[in-house]
Amino acid sequence: MIEKLSGLFSQNPENGIMSVISTANVNNRNLDLNEKIGYIMLLIIGGNETTTNLITNMLKALSDNEDIINNLNTERNIHDFIEETLRYYSPIQFLPHRFAIDDTDINGIHINKGQRISVFLGSANRDENIFDKPDEFILRDRNEHIAFGRGPHMCIGAPLARLEADIALNDFLENYKKIRIDNKNQYF
Ligand code: HEM
Repeated sequence: MIEKLSGLFSQNPENGIMSVISTANVNNRNLDLNEKIGYIMLLIIGGNETTTNLITNMLKALSDNEDIINNLNTERNIHDFIEETLRYYSPIQFLPHRFAIDDTDINGIHINKGQRISVFLGSANRDENIFDKPDEFILRDRNEHIAFGRGPHMCIGAPLARLEADIALNDFLENYKKIRIDNKNQYF
């Protein structure tokens, strides 16, 4: 894969994402080959399993909450359903290797500036101080989950992931009235 990407970049692509990455100017310089390949890999890995999980989690939510499918009859409800799936089953449960930018206290635990931490998005998305009945799957009016992270590194692919989920869900609803996961045949 790395050799193939390296070959494609050396041909100076003129269109599409490869060309955007090739000509990107970051701090007054272009990216070197390793950085270009790293960015493509980030897009491939970051955008693949996460969205696959979101789509399969939507099916699990439909299977576990039989009545919800009858409410997915407006764009608004479909939007709320996708957001609740992102909150309830956060595809990325935690982000390892982060560093505290300041001294801080969280629930009585002191964290020093520079200390390495893991951020548990899945847990934050079930925070009872933020969400009413956090362990219930509900179509919520306000859903300030952080399944895509927060701040300057928030997921760049969030709009694409939401669009893919919307297309997959509408396609499913056009063809099926109900889904039930057969728990007897689990492969993992
Ligand atoms: C349901 C689907 C997805 C979820 C839950 C998700 C989640 C996340 C999260 C939590 C982060 C933040 C990491 C951090 O704070 O350091 C992130 C970053 C990122 N995501 Fe996604 N992602 C999804 C889909 C995608 C897609 C479709 C793409 C691209 C095609 C993508 C590309 C990226 C990239 C490039 C970053 C790094 C952004 C940066 O560091 O500035 N993601 N994603």
